[in-house]
Formats: sequence, C-alpha cells, structure tokens
Amino acid sequence: MTKMHLMWFCAFSPHAGFGLDGWSGSRTGSGYDWTKPELWQDMAVALERAKFDLIMLGDSLAVPGTYQDRMDAYLRYAEHAPFHDPSPLVAIMAAATHRIGLAATLSTTFYPPFLLARLMTTLDHLSRGRIAWNVVTSYKREEALNFGYQELLDHDQRYDRADEYMELCYQLWASWQPDAVVMDPRTDTFADPAKVRTIDFAGTYYWSRGPLNATPSPQGRPVIIQAGTSERGQDFAARHAEAIIVGRETVDDMKQFYDAFKARVRKHGRKPEDCKIFFLAKPIIGDTDDAAQQRADALYANAPVEAGLAALSTLLQIDLSTYALDQPLPASIQARAIQGIRSQLDRFYLSGRSPTLREIATRKVSLDSMPFIGTPQRVADSLARTIEAVGGDGFAVRQGLWPGYVGPFVEKVVPLLQQHGVARAEYTGTTLREHLREF
Ligand SMILES: Cc1cc2nc3c(=O)[nH]c(=O)nc-3n(C[C@H](O)[C@H](O)[C@H](O)COP(=O)(O)O)c2cc1C
Repeated sequence: MTKMHLMWFCAFSPHAGFGLDGWSGSRTGSGYDWTKPELWQDMAVALERAKFDLIMLGDSLAVPGTYQDRMDAYLRYAEHAPFHDPSPLVAIMAAATHRIGLAATLSTTFYPPFLLARLMTTLDHLSRGRIAWNVVTSYKREEALNFGYQELLDHDQRYDRADEYMELCYQLWASWQPDAVVMDPRTDTFADPAKVRTIDFAGTYYWSRGPLNATPSPQGRPVIIQAGTSERGQDFAARHAEAIIVGRETVDDMKQFYDAFKARVRKHGRKPEDCKIFFLAKPIIGDTDDAAQQRADALYANAPVEAGLAALSTLLQIDLSTYALDQPLPASIQARAIQGIRSQLDRFYLSGRSPTLREIATRKVSLDSMPFIGTPQRVADSLARTIEAVGGDGFAVRQGLWPGYVGPFVEKVVPLLQQHGVARAEYTGTTLREHLREF
C-alpha cells in the first residue's frame, strides 16, 4: 500500500471558488474575514490534527492588468489579487501549531538573496524547524513594473539567475558551522569566530560577502519547494527541490510525469525519494455522490467566464479578450514562446485535446487536477487508488483556507485514509524535512 503525503495549498488572499464560502459567501453570511489571524490559525490547527505534512502559501507581487489591458476584472473578482505577505502569516501559524510544516512563496527575481536567506533562517527558528520556501521566479509583467523594471527577464534566463541565487543562499546558510554558537559565559564567548566565515560570493548576477548575520536554524536551511514544470523548470526542480507541485488530470498523465521526473532527479545525482511530487487535487465532497456533483456543477456554472479569462490571461501573459470564445486557442499561441506559465498551456492541449477558450475559462477547476468528487468514502478511495497506481508521493489540496473546505476534508476524508493506512496517523518527526522523508 502506497502512503500519501498531504499538503494544503492556498494563499493569503480572499480568492475562493464562486458559490463556495470564501469572501463571496459574505453575502449569505457564510463568508470569512480573510485578513484576520484567527481564521488562519484555526485552520492550521485543524490541518495539524489531520497530520498534514504542510501548508503552502502561494504569492504574487502585483495587481495584474493583462486581460483587456486593465485591472478591473482582477479587482472585481479577486483573481490573482490581493495577496497579503505570506511570511508574517507563516510566523503566526507557527505560533499556533507544533508539528505541521509551513511554506511561504518568495520570488528570486525580486527578493534580495541575503534578506531571503535571513528571513527563512529566522522563520525556521521561530517554527522550530518547520519552514519551506516555495521558490518562484515570477512571471507577471506588472510585478516587474512594481520594482522599477519594464520587462521581466526571459523565461529561461529567470531560471539561470535563480540557479545562481540558490547557490548563494546555500553558501549563506552554510556560512556558520552548525556548532558555531558556543554561548559559554566562562570564556565570554557567544560564537566561535573560527566557525563562521565570509563567503565572498561573486557570480554573474550576484555578489555577497556574507556570512549570514543569523545563527544556524534547526533545519539548517528551509525545505525547497518548486512549482514550475516546463522543461527548464523541471531541471531546476530536479537539482534543487525537495518537493514539487504538479497539475495532471489523469492517472496515466500523473504516472508518466512521475516516472520521467524521478529519472531526471536521478540524473542530477540525487535519489528519487529526495524530491517528493505533490499532485494538485480539488476534492469536492457531499453527503451523496449526487450532492457532491451538484456542488461541483454549481461551481462551474457560477464562475463568470470573465473571471476565468482574466486568470488565464495573467497566467499565460496574453490578453485573451481578443480571441474567439468558442474556438480552441489558435495554434500560433500554442506554439508561441510563452513568457508566463508555459506548463499551464501545455497541459490544456495534452493528449491531443483541443478545448475551446470558454471551456478552459469556465472549467479551469477540472483542468488543474484530477476531479475528486463524491462522498467522503468515494473521494478517499479514489485518492488512495490514484496514489497506488502512480507509485507516490502525495497530493496538494488546492482550496482556500476556509472552514467550509478544510472542515469536511479533515473530518470526513482524512480519517478514512488513516484507517486504510494510506495517510499519516501520527507525526514521527518534528521538522518538515523529517515529515517528507518519513516514507
Ligand atoms: C501549481 C503552481 C503554483 C504556482 N504558484 C505560484 C505562486 O504562488 N507565485 C508565483 O509567482 N508563481 C507561481 N507559480 C509559477 C511558477 O513558480 C513558475 O514561475 C512558472 O510556472 C513558470 O515556470 P514554468 O514555465 O517552468 O512552469 C506556480 C506554478 C504552478 C504550476
């Protein structure tokens, strides 16, 4: 029986499925104040009770304006905006929990490496070794504009720069030997100067003297997560990542990706189990299969086409308002060197499919991941069967962090998975890296 790792993937953002909880539920009195700490702390506690490996917070640094060349749709529907800063949220969730891992997304393009290395070390101390960094290179032009640049670097060049960024961070994290802090009052010694060194890093993009001005944290360095799955993105992940997040819609596609990616990890001189693959899953649960299906149908029916088009436009960095809604995207676009999330577009046209733009925009939910819709028993069986067929490693449940999503999953589905021995019933380690390496 193959055991599954579990991640909850969300963001410090009000976005939620239309017709389902989240901020839009406020009209019916079931909405939540996403800006307040209690909601997030309560959800972190609930997910820890269910023995999740970690909670992952995505992020972005701009209000997009790709669709119709303006911000209106993004603001109206809370598509890709707003995002509050995930790092302080991680700290307050850490304060409310003891074992669950916590990941914040930070961009190599905009965050200075020294500050990032120090922030991660600080958070790893505060959480007692439960921190991960989701490494993104950023893909929105508006993010560049917010930081004084006219354009982002080219897609692959962003990854080249990120490779060097990682090397610099690794050196900063290693600039203090693990036993450098002595704290010996008899000799009046806080740290042994012989065990802390400058790094004098001089690369193509970055220079840094070092050392880090922070002491070694419980994990030494954060767990590295990555989510880009273009060829270049996969190479980056195979070299650096300890967990990746991937969207695939069928068991065959998942299995194919799993085998190919693990081979790539091996090619980089690492063991396949050194990088865990989390497949995106959006479970929709009901008391009966029909009730769950109705809930899923309502989700698609209520999703405004414009919101989907706006989201997709920023993901691809192409204004889709100028294309015919009831046609597949023209081959010229499919072939174009996309600056946004290349893997996102590839996926729509996998396996010879040719969905229309409207289908992609309104059913984007099902294009993200395998549908897991039904009673808790059906969803649990389906998750277990899928991971068995694929060979591992786990699922990234992608929903808002609202009680309306978290509650039913952790109270009804996870106990079934635990009874079957396919999900963790107790933590055996204390750090996030230990959770990921447990099986
Ligand atoms: C499931 C998933 C989640 C992502 N989350 C974020 C995010 O929170 N912030 C961000 O800036 N980019 C995010 N990205 C973008 C990736 O980090 C990467 O920059 C992008 O996918 C381009 O790389 P690729 O072409 O290799 O996929 C995400 C991508 C995927 C597939």
